[in-house]
Amino acid sequence: MTRQIILKSRPVGIPTLDNFESRSVDIHVVSPGQVRLMAHTMSVDPYLRGRMNDAPSYIPSFQLGEPIVGGGVARIVESKTEGFNVGSYVMGYLPWQEEMVIDTAGLKIVDENLAPLSFYLGILGMPGLTAWFGLTDIGKPQPGETVVISGAAGAVGIVVEQLAKIQGCHVVGIAGSDAKVRYLKDELKFDEVINYKTTSDLEAAIALACPSGVDVYFDNVGGEISDAVIAQINKNARIIICGQISLYNATSQPMGPRIQSVLLKKSALMQGFIVGNYSSRFDEGLKALSQLVGTGKLKYTNTTYHGFERLPEAFIDLFEGKNLGKLIVEL
Ligand SMILES: NC(=O)c1ccc[n+]([C@@H]2O[C@H](COP(=O)([O-])OP(=O)(O)OC[C@H]3O[C@@H](n4cnc5c(N)ncnc54)[C@H](OP(=O)(O)O)[C@@H]3O)[C@@H](O)[C@H]2O)c1
Repeated sequence: MTRQIILKSRPVGIPTLDNFESRSVDIHVVSPGQVRLMAHTMSVDPYLRGRMNDAPSYIPSFQLGEPIVGGGVARIVESKTEGFNVGSYVMGYLPWQEEMVIDTAGLKIVDENLAPLSFYLGILGMPGLTAWFGLTDIGKPQPGETVVISGAAGAVGIVVEQLAKIQGCHVVGIAGSDAKVRYLKDELKFDEVINYKTTSDLEAAIALACPSGVDVYFDNVGGEISDAVIAQINKNARIIICGQISLYNATSQPMGPRIQSVLLKKSALMQGFIVGNYSSRFDEGLKALSQLVGTGKLKYTNTTYHGFERLPEAFIDLFEGKNLGKLIVEL
């Protein structure tokens, strides 16, 4: 028997612990093409919130009574697949379960000697690739341009910032606590960082931080923060819609300013994307990110919770901004 965490009820608004349940399940016998895994580190990500709704999206909804599935790294403890050796670590989309038997299709061997295992869920995983493709493929920042990032202290945001700095941009972050502001300024060397929770006039603060206007906006949060940034874009600005976390728990869609006339007047591009669109180019992105990590040009940080049972709590804490960098749960 092993423990798994299921979706017990669909959240309305911000998820609560009551939406989840831990239960014991049998572990199956390993068949050819499968491995038995012990979960090592699990990722909690904002997009899981969308999968908890019973609504069509780019990825199917979780079913009630079924385990949550998310990014994870696990150790192989039994194998009936060539190339998947006992003792190796794999990364993939895994159920929130301590021990599991799973098909190897979709699993990727990761090397704990090349990078800390948690990196495969962060800078060398889905968030890092999101930052890489969103910024380089859609944002296309040029030296001297101003790049603004919302959700700046999170898993994606801290990578976007450093990539923009490497490009020689003026980089401005927006984040939700003074501790985050200090980290972004002191450790990551953001040019300017705004605490959106304590700033009374966000538009004025952005104008002050971006004296030449905004050329690239990497949007992780949406809502009023994005309204304030988009009001200050330059001609030919690029707006990358990566995430809209401020709206994920909304029970009705708030009405914002009609931005089409701003986009028209500024000949601006606004493009949403899902990192999976780039799956055929993941190797290219990982190679670039690995080189930058290997040469010390990209730093990364995690907020780590310990214990399988803390997965739901960690996930909920994303919506309170309790994480700096990637939020992971070590088992
Ligand atoms: N398009 C894609 O393929 C793709 C892939 C990965 C992630 N994403 C999206 O990118 C965004 C960032 O993801 P991540 O993994 O890096 O998460 P993250 O930034 O590590 O964690 C979420 C952060 O969002 C902020 N936040 C929470 N509620 C907020 C609100 N109401 N208003 C403003 N900020 C709020 C919090 O920081 P503060 O303390 O600063 O509020 C929190 O720490 C998310 O929207 C996610 O869905 C998209």
